[in-house]
Amino acid sequence: MRRPRAADVDAVLAYRSRPDVAQYLSAGTWTREHTTSELSLYATARFEGPGDELVLVVELLETAEVVGEVGLVWLQNDSAEIGYVFNPRFGGRGLATEAVGTLLAAARNDWGFVQVIAKTDAANESSRALCERLRMTLVATALTTDGRGVEELTYAVPASANRTSDR
Ligand SMILES: CC(C)(COP(=O)(O)OP(=O)(O)OC[C@H]1O[C@@H](n2cnc3c(N)ncnc32)[C@H](O)[C@@H]1OP(=O)(O)O)[C@@H](O)C(=O)NCCC(=O)NCCS
Repeated sequence: MRRPRAADVDAVLAYRSRPDVAQYLSAGTWTREHTTSELSLYATARFEGPGDELVLVVELLETAEVVGEVGLVWLQNDSAEIGYVFNPRFGGRGLATEAVGTLLAAARNDWGFVQVIAKTDAANESSRALCERLRMTLVATALTTDGRGVEELTYAVPASANRTSDR
């Protein structure tokens, strides 16, 4: 996992422009122009305090192909929200689980976040399955406030969980 760079635009656009990938994302589908500007923003965005967001692209070790991205938003009170978007072309191999699990462990063990949550549409079964594979537990259900008004689930690694057992 690494910071995005301008040369990632084709690989990221390949999945961010797909309606099936965007169907549960409030950001919708991305254009090339928007993808370029997001990559430029996250190439150097600071991650130092509440409100900051870290986005990393995930590449295959063998080929260096970009397969998706993971993100961490710094919330208040030692908590963070994790996010993930992957290219379906590389789905079903456990790559997202590995990347999100690694970021989750880093969030807790390296950055010291006490609680890490993930929010997902209730209808997003593959995202729910990912959270459950990582032993996150369902802690809340609410309607989204992003204008879509759909049911959204919040998963969390409980603050009491053993930090070094997340991986
Ligand atoms: C959510 C998302 C990342 C999940 O992708 P995914 O391909 O299901 O996840 P993984 O890459 O971890 O692959 C898991 C699959 O690989 C299988 N797998 C194979 N080897 C595996 C391994 N070593 N470890 C874990 N899973 C493995 C799992 O059994 C699972 O298969 P299944 O779906 O048939 O049960 C993807 O659907 C996505 O990007 N969606 C669009 C964006 C989105 O909705 N993001 C979430 C917003 S909240």
